[in-house]
Amino acid sequence: MGRSLSLTARFLVAATFATVSVSVRVSTNFDLKPFTINLGDKIPRLKSLVKNTYLPAKALYPDAGPEKGIELETLGQLRTDWLTNFDWEARQAELNQMTQFSATIEGLTVHFVHEKSNDPGAIPLILIHGWPGSFHEFSPVIKPLTQSSISASGRNVSFNVVVPSLPGFVFSSAPPANWTTVDTARIFNTLMTEVLGYSRYAVHSTDWGAAVGYSLYESFNATVGAAHFVFLPFSPPSTQEMAENNITLSDTQKVTEQLYIELTTSGMGYFIEQTTKPNDIGLALYDNPMGQLAWIGTTFKLYSDPRAGTPPSVLNNTAILTSVSLYYLTESFLSSVWIYAQNPSMFRTTYTKAPTDAPLLFSMYEYNPGLWPEEYVAKVGNLVSYKVHDFGGHFAGLDNPPALIADIREMGQHFKA
Ligand SMILES: *[C@@H]1O[C@H](CO)[C@@H](O)[C@H](O)[C@H]1NC(C)=O
Ligand SMILES: *[C@@H]1O[C@H](CO)[C@@H](O)[C@H](O)[C@H]1NC(C)=O
Ligand SMILES: *[C@@H]1O[C@H](CO)[C@@H](O)[C@H](O)[C@H]1NC(C)=O
Ligand SMILES: *[C@@H]1O[C@H](CO)[C@@H](O)[C@H](O)[C@H]1NC(C)=O
Ligand SMILES: *[C@@H]1O[C@H](CO)[C@@H](O)[C@H](O)[C@H]1NC(C)=O
Repeated sequence: MGRSLSLTARFLVAATFATVSVSVRVSTNFDLKPFTINLGDKIPRLKSLVKNTYLPAKALYPDAGPEKGIELETLGQLRTDWLTNFDWEARQAELNQMTQFSATIEGLTVHFVHEKSNDPGAIPLILIHGWPGSFHEFSPVIKPLTQSSISASGRNVSFNVVVPSLPGFVFSSAPPANWTTVDTARIFNTLMTEVLGYSRYAVHSTDWGAAVGYSLYESFNATVGAAHFVFLPFSPPSTQEMAENNITLSDTQKVTEQLYIELTTSGMGYFIEQTTKPNDIGLALYDNPMGQLAWIGTTFKLYSDPRAGTPPSVLNNTAILTSVSLYYLTESFLSSVWIYAQNPSMFRTTYTKAPTDAPLLFSMYEYNPGLWPEEYVAKVGNLVSYKVHDFGGHFAGLDNPPALIADIREMGQHFKA
């Protein structure tokens, strides 16, 4: 008896030491460090390249329209703003108002914003961007989400907000060639649970981030307590399929559907290029800020609300130039376009339900080119809320921040702690 007790005691002591040494090893391994953006010394080169890149004096075909690619006048105005009105130091100072860190996970440097609420009951939340987005597209919603406020359904909700940069985007290092969005989901779950110690958290995601976010939703049902999407990694149904299923569209949804048809019939050039020959465009524009501006700017212009830049939208030229500057100055345009080649079948054609009872919320924005009717979203998860907004586009965090804040806050009503 005495002998076995002492054995047990020794075992417990050994186990305790083992636990201590493991946790010490893990926390030093993640190499968590505060992060500050400091790219000012690269600005002179950017400005000189922009200045020395000339554009045609007049448009070759003035009536071609933005469907044929960014219009000369639009690009010229952005160029002028970059050279005359755009103040990188001010933008950088604004971005640095967000508390940022870097950590090393599975050998990759992961950059992220971590803004905590003062409320001890705040819900941990991860916001995941896509291409050509970045953590910057969430800057208008981060602080408000940390603040306690009453949701539409009447609950007092606040969040501890985490916004990582996807691997290969801005300050996160480029992943190995075989890396997929499933791998990103795994390291982002590690970020939330092991690096930051949140045992359960909520997810919001868009574009490529939605592939990551949906992977979190379906594969980490012990840690994901709610998910909100504005985009899904499932092929939107065709107009004909919706008609056959007796789905009738609202006027707002008809606009979205039309944009989606335009995207799939005449807007897939960049998508096919980046999926099949990422090095061609990636290297061609690597040190070409005007080229990146045209290639990225067209997406911001075409897939935002026609009223973009007027309230509640803050998606004006300053926002576009901040995004493009981030890609250029961090030399991450090349690694960012590789995400297409690394995930050639992002859109699943079979709608299957994720093995989780965590609530799923969905919001559509009129000028976001992808229509997932409520009936289809309900097939992939435990749908508890479906909202339609008649203002905003693909970059909701910039194009309609108040609506996105309200919809994300609504997760607090359903969050399974
Ligand atoms: C919401 O909760 C916060 C933190 O607990 C509290 O300070 C605030 O007064 C609450 N607001 C309302 C309207 O109840
Ligand atoms: C992916 O590539 C890395 C090295 O670049 C290699 O270590 C790893 O085994 C590869 N993974 C798969 C699943 O092939
Ligand atoms: C659609 O409506 C028609 C006419 O009411 C009906 O015959 C058909 O079965 C419906 N289809 C589906 C998929 O519900
Ligand atoms: C763009 O929007 C931001 C945020 O609303 C504003 O501070 C800035 O002055 C705007 N820039 C331009 C060029 O209008
Ligand atoms: C969570 O996922 C596991 C593995 O797929 C599954 O066995 C389990 O039933 C799921 N839990 C819920 C609540 O669906």
